[in-house]
Amino acid sequence: MDDYSRANRDRWDELVPIHAKSPFYDVAGFERGRIALDAVEREGVGNVIGKTLLHLQCHFGLSTLSWARLGAEVTGVDFSPRAIDLARKLARKQDLPADFICCDVYDLQHHLDRQFDVVFSSYGVLCWLSDLEPWGRTIARHLAPGGTFFLAEFHPFLWVFDDDPATRSLRLRYPYFKTPKPLRFEEDGTYTGDKLAKIRNTTTYEWSHSFSDVLQALIDAGLKIDEVREFDRCCYQALPIMKEAEKGWWKLPKEVGSLPLMFSIRATHRRGATNLLPRALEESPQKEPEPEEPERYAERQEHHGHAHTEPQDHEKSSGDDRAGVP
Ligand SMILES: C[S@@+](CC[C@H](N)C(=O)[O-])C[C@H]1O[C@@H](n2cnc3c(N)ncnc32)[C@H](O)[C@@H]1O
Repeated sequence: MDDYSRANRDRWDELVPIHAKSPFYDVAGFERGRIALDAVEREGVGNVIGKTLLHLQCHFGLSTLSWARLGAEVTGVDFSPRAIDLARKLARKQDLPADFICCDVYDLQHHLDRQFDVVFSSYGVLCWLSDLEPWGRTIARHLAPGGTFFLAEFHPFLWVFDDDPATRSLRLRYPYFKTPKPLRFEEDGTYTGDKLAKIRNTTTYEWSHSFSDVLQALIDAGLKIDEVREFDRCCYQALPIMKEAEKGWWKLPKEVGSLPLMFSIRATHRRGATNLLPRALEESPQKEPEPEEPERYAERQEHHGHAHTEPQDHEKSSGDDRAGVP
């Protein structure tokens, strides 16, 4: 694991107990039977009764266990030990059958040797990945022939805009295309808006991935893209100018215009495609440039969470709301 991933993992580890207590995640509601999946995810994946489902970057498993509640045989993967520990505890408490694997998605082949009817991932996952090519190959490797991959994610176009809470217009700030070094952010809050504790692991390293890079990674891995959708709504307030249009869905104000804020991709494993890539291509991503001097595209002094617009005391920005999000 490189220094960037370690910093990100330490932060995610620290966020787990904070998120577990957060109304944003509503664990109590989940324990009463709530399904922690939205309409885009549920409609996109469809009926999972009796299907095997692999959830990549599952955080502490609320969505994974929701798929279990809907009838799937689930396996969740995340590199945060505390997230996986909590996911296992929730599964036991709810008496839901589920496997959870604690590892980097790039190392999954060393921890898992089976294929699934569905591979699923959603919201706030791609920005943590340095390289989408091995990500695509991981999906292809664990997707059964004829199986379905489904991804719901924030649109990369959304991430180019200034997310400083003081910003009241669409102002370009971040690069759309991947940069040689990751973007470095300082953030002492979390997107749930909870201020329960001072977060020690404030530094994150994130990567921009263009829409075409996401699609191409899947195509190159041998997947057949069946459906691509773009949405003018978002499941949280990613930019301060967004307004809650209906419960749980945020949009740009009409006078500003419409832009893609989220997207989904459904793809099928072409029978006989990939999975037999040369060993050299199967390894983890190339080592990234040294972390000493990462480009500072933004420095966040304080972050109050995606759905909060209180005035903030910060130098440049409240930061990159890519840092997570369910
Ligand atoms: C925003 S969450 C996404 C899950 C879901 N949207 C939710 O909120 O429950 C992002 C997750 O990705 C995980 N993650 C980030 N990089 C990873 C990697 N390289 N391998 C495995 N998990 C990773 C983090 O630990 C975190 O739990």
